[in-house]
Amino acid sequence: MEIGERRIPFKNESIMSEKKEMLYEGKAKQVFATENPDEVVVRYKDDATAFNAQKRGQFDRKGELNNAISTLIFGYLADNGIPTHFIAKLDDREQLVKKVDIIPLEIVVRNYVAGSMAQRLGVEEGIKSPVTIFDLCFKRDDLGDPLINDHHAVFLGAASYAELAEMYALTDKINKLLIDLFDKANVILVDFKIELGKTADGKMVLADEISPDTCRLWDKDTKKKLDKDRFRRDLGEITEAYVEIFNRLQKALAK
Ligand code: TMP
Ligand code: ASP
Repeated sequence: MEIGERRIPFKNESIMSEKKEMLYEGKAKQVFATENPDEVVVRYKDDATAFNAQKRGQFDRKGELNNAISTLIFGYLADNGIPTHFIAKLDDREQLVKKVDIIPLEIVVRNYVAGSMAQRLGVEEGIKSPVTIFDLCFKRDDLGDPLINDHHAVFLGAASYAELAEMYALTDKINKLLIDLFDKANVILVDFKIELGKTADGKMVLADEISPDTCRLWDKDTKKKLDKDRFRRDLGEITEAYVEIFNRLQKALAK
């Protein structure tokens, strides 16, 4: 499979992607400055972590696959009216994106019960929720990204109530579009995490990535896990699962 060269159409013709100094290194990605102060290059690594980096590993082609998958998803969302930071896929591992101030909140959307919610509330994994559940986590690695509520977020200065309302509305739209896309790929979107940011002109946009690292994705028929839980839970066939998601998304988007 050749997934390196694909470029999503972009509006900005004068791409200045010359990488300069590294601005930030996270667990799965690095961010580099470019000649344009409003744009940065994101480089996807093969490193995988789980449980706030207590579990560490690497798996084959993870960076390349997440870059390719996130590119497909951000392109699809942009085509459907979602503002995003994405500009272009540059190569196997790199994307050019708008520089944003990340809002220090992770929004987790849950359509089915799984993972930490199943554990925290003593509910069985796999139950479909009658309502869309939004969790808010404060982005602080040293605290393990604690689960908080709206009032904590406002208290912490992470967002105002008006911004939270805008964030939830945007997240809800994204959820509906993603449920639809994954459904066409015969996949259940169990849950996922997103991060939002503000561009230089103050516009709220979808940032970070959407990939099997940040979603729980189950095959609709077999309920086989096709996401990072294969790494978290030592289930094997991790790369194969990510390749499967890429192939299915590509097919679903071609329809
Ligand atoms: P959780 O069940 O561990 O709270 O995870 C919910 C969803 O959010 C799941 O799809 C994985 C994703 N997620 C991230 O992308 N990054 C994180 O740091 C965490 C904790 C979860
Ligand atoms: N990405 C997070 C970490 O390293 C958690 C996870 O995805 O499970 O620690």
